[in-house]
Parts: sequence; C-alpha cells; structure tokens
Amino acid sequence: MKVTTQKKSQDASFSPITIGLHWIMLVLLFATYASVELRHLFDKGTELRDLMKALHFMIGLCVLAMVVVRLAVKMQTTVPPIVPAPPPWQHFMAQLTHLTLYAFMIGMPLLGWATLSALGKPVSFFGLDLPPLIELNKQLGSQLKEIHEVVGIGGYFLIGTHALAAIFHHYVIKDNTFVRMSLKNLAVLRKQRRVAL
Ligand code: HEM
Ligand code: HEM
Repeated sequence: MKVTTQKKSQDASFSPITIGLHWIMLVLLFATYASVELRHLFDKGTELRDLMKALHFMIGLCVLAMVVVRLAVKMQTTVPPIVPAPPPWQHFMAQLTHLTLYAFMIGMPLLGWATLSALGKPVSFFGLDLPPLIELNKQLGSQLKEIHEVVGIGGYFLIGTHALAAIFHHYVIKDNTFVRMSLKNLAVLRKQRRVAL
C-alpha cells in the first residue's frame, strides 16, 4: 500500500533533484540580475561597483555550470504527465518556452564571457582565471555587450511569462502543472521515502 502511494506521488512529480535544481536556478538568476542592477547604486570606479560586477560575472557563470548539471539530470529522468492533459497547442508552447529558457541559461553566460574576452578583460571564477572565449576585438566586444544587455532585458519577460503560465495553470486551470515542480511536493516525496524505508 505504502509503495503504491509512493509510486503514485512519484509519477505525478518531477524528480527531487530536478525540483531542487529548478529552484536553485531561480535563486541564481535572481542574484545575477540583482548584482548587475545594484551596481547602478555606486559610482563608476568605486570598489563596490566593481564588486557588484565581479559578483554578476561569477554568479552568471554558476548559471552555466548549473545548467550543464540540469541537462545531464534531464537526460536521465522523465517529465511527469500533466493531469488533466492540456490541449496540444499549450503543450507545444510549454515545450517552446522550456527550450528558450535552456537556450537563455546557456547563451547568456557564454555571451557575457565572450564580451569580456573581446574587450580584453579577465574572467575569474572563484579565483580561477578562465581563458578568453574569443580574440581581443573591442568593436565586437561592444556589440556583444549590447546584445547581452538586450537579451538580458528579454529574460525578464521570458521568465515572467513562464512563471505567470505556471500560476495560471495552478489557480485558473487547476491542474497539477505547478504541484509537480513545487518544493512542498519535494518535502512530501522525502517523507514518503523515509516511511517506505
Ligand atoms: C544568465 C546569466 C546572465 C544574465 C541573466 C545576465 C544579465 C545581464 C544584464 C540584464 C545586464 C545589463 C544590466 C544593465 O544594463 O543595467 C548585464 C550586463 C553585463 N553582463 Fe551579464 N548576465 C549574465 C551572465 C553574465 C556573465 C557570466 C558575464 C561574464 C562572465 C556577464 C557579463 C556582463 C557584462 C560585461 C555586462 C555589462 C556590465 C557593465 O557595462 O557595467 N554576464 N548582464
Ligand atoms: C517564480 C518563478 C518560476 C515558477 C513559478 C516556475 C514554475 C515551473 C513549473 C510549474 C514548471 C513545470 C512546467 C511543465 O512541466 O510544463 C517549470 C518547468 C521549467 N522551468 Fe520554471 N518556474 C520559475 C522560474 C524558472 C526560471 C528562473 C527558469 C530558468 C531560467 C525556469 C526554467 C524552467 C524549465 C527549463 C522548465 C522545464 C523543466 C524540464 O522539463 O526540464 N523556471 N517551472
């Protein structure tokens, strides 16, 4: 009986590691954005402004490291079905959004890294000096920086739309889209595993 209940809950949920990585990524992205936006509070050339920028680079690179782990986990796990099943167009839109989110999590840090490389600036990751991604080219560097900033603003809309869709599914359609990814569900899964053992 216990096993059946546990199986049912597992079927209706993303794996605990997927849930953990999903919400850690949200925290990382929040910190990446916060650090780069907060730099505006400090004058150019001040230590605090440089610190904010350094934090932005480093946390942004953590996003890249984390998405690699996330993709590796994704390849080993399955996506639990949404109940009741949404119409095909909603399924297609969700797939497209998820694909775009993955492209964003990979593309933005690489774009930032390439920007610093082209501008001839060092890229440090927890004290480790990373090699330049591309050759020194200040003109290209400024163009990449602009693209990085524009896509960064687009990220607010992308993540916002994704979060709103999840809220819509939970409160309006009232299906299990959100519950499958919720931290509360993670706690239930852990409790069930402990009981089963
Ligand atoms: C998902 C990860 C990232 C996101 C969402 C992101 C987002 C942003 C945003 C929104 C801005 C513009 C802020 C503004 O104009 O006020 C920005 C600026 C910038 N980012 Fe990123 N970024 C990420 C990762 C990185 C990484 C990993 C690097 C470098 C290793 C980097 C390098 C830069 C640089 C050089 C600027 C311009 C800063 C300045 O001119 O003061 N970014 N980023
Ligand atoms: C408050 C913010 C957020 C909420 C409420 C939220 C909610 C959800 C929910 C409910 C799902 C499952 C959707 C489904 O299966 O169709 C999901 C999946 C996903 N979320 Fe979020 N999310 C948020 C932030 C983010 C952020 C910041 C990112 C990354 C930039 C992200 C990336 C993804 C991806 C890639 C998936 C697909 C999972 C997979 O199959 O690998 N989410 N999210």
